[in-house]
Amino acid sequence: MDPAEAAKVVAAQKSLEFVRDGMVVGLGSGSTATHFIKLLGEKVKAGLKIRSISSSRASEDLARSLSIPITDFRQSPVIDVAIDGADEIGPHLALVKGGGGALLREKIVASAAKRFIVVADSSKIVPRLGKFPLPVEVIPMAAPLVEKQILALGISSKVRQAKTGGEYITDEGNLILDCSCGEIADPEALAASIRAMVGVVEHGLFLNMAEMALVADGAEVKTVYK
Ligand code: 5RP
Repeated sequence: MDPAEAAKVVAAQKSLEFVRDGMVVGLGSGSTATHFIKLLGEKVKAGLKIRSISSSRASEDLARSLSIPITDFRQSPVIDVAIDGADEIGPHLALVKGGGGALLREKIVASAAKRFIVVADSSKIVPRLGKFPLPVEVIPMAAPLVEKQILALGISSKVRQAKTGGEYITDEGNLILDCSCGEIADPEALAASIRAMVGVVEHGLFLNMAEMALVADGAEVKTVYK
């Protein structure tokens, strides 16, 4: 396993300390969250009693395959703790997420969580957000209109393509615009501008949501607070 991947496992392992019997657990998406779900599956097999709500079909399928009990917001409107990865972790735990295309459900899960904990390897820590293209989920019909409005902010964007060819379609049937922002000087202002565009479903800026980040460098895990 390469060092970054091994660090993701270390961070995921550490996050298990925040999961207790009886909790509703939000399951993130992406490779670090996948490590967490697999480790959680081992705990469940050993007797841990939790229920889960997933932030993507892929994570839900994985949870089901590991016999992790699944619930939904009708039965369980509050998540006790949500564990998820991030593409960038900036100052004050401002995040860019959505590299895996699951930003909408990820934000729903994080917003319903009493505690939202980020797990990552140290490469995700950045002094300023924006090097990683900011994903924006849009209604397909509106994509050309939103692209133009984003360009008017001085930001070029591209419709994400699927690895298998054709446009990438999210779990909710939408498109993703990957926006080349460059350094984002004011994440709050950019989030508000993008949010105001008709046809935008959600963007990948997660601001004032994470309580802490467990960031692994080799075998060492640092806890980063706001
Ligand atoms: C998926 C996400 C992931 O959390 C993000 O892309 C980080 O992924 P990884 O843990 O594979 O580096 O936002 O939409």
